[in-house]
Amino acid sequence: MKKIILGAFLVLSMAFASDTSNCRAQEVDSNQLYGMLCALCHGPNGQPTEQGVQFGSPDFTDPAWQASKTDEELVKSMIDGTDNQDYAPVKQFVMDMLGIDIDVAEFIPKVRSFGGQ
Ligand code: HEC
Repeated sequence: MKKIILGAFLVLSMAFASDTSNCRAQEVDSNQLYGMLCALCHGPNGQPTEQGVQFGSPDFTDPAWQASKTDEELVKSMIDGTDNQDYAPVKQFVMDMLGIDIDVAEFIPKVRSFGGQ
């Protein structure tokens, strides 16, 4: 699992190199982070990729899914993880990948924005 993520991250970081080359990790905003890391499973438009489906990612564009979760629950999942063993909690994931300690609540508006489409 870790290998898959790392491999995909290397490919992605090359793909996004032009986006990120002129800013340090600390300056990367949640939109950029989403594109770099989260879109791998959650898709650029909030619909899970093939890989995301395999891991059991939700469809962020599904109004029923959006309605089923409070912001607090999403933050908690992103910090503590969920029952899904394939789910790497976002806080630790970003720390492992980029070595930065993020406030995961910054991803909430991004995740919610997909529900309005
Ligand atoms: C390796 C694939 C993968 C990556 C990369 C990934 N996620 Fe997820 N994500 C998942 C899976 C699988 C779930 C479903 C977890 C569950 O339902 O138990 C999930 C669920 C979520 C949820 C919903 C949690 C809940 O309570 O239902 C949020 C929010 C989320 N991810 C945000 C992110 C953000 C932000 C990033 C990027 C920093 C990210 N994810 C990167 C696989 C991934």
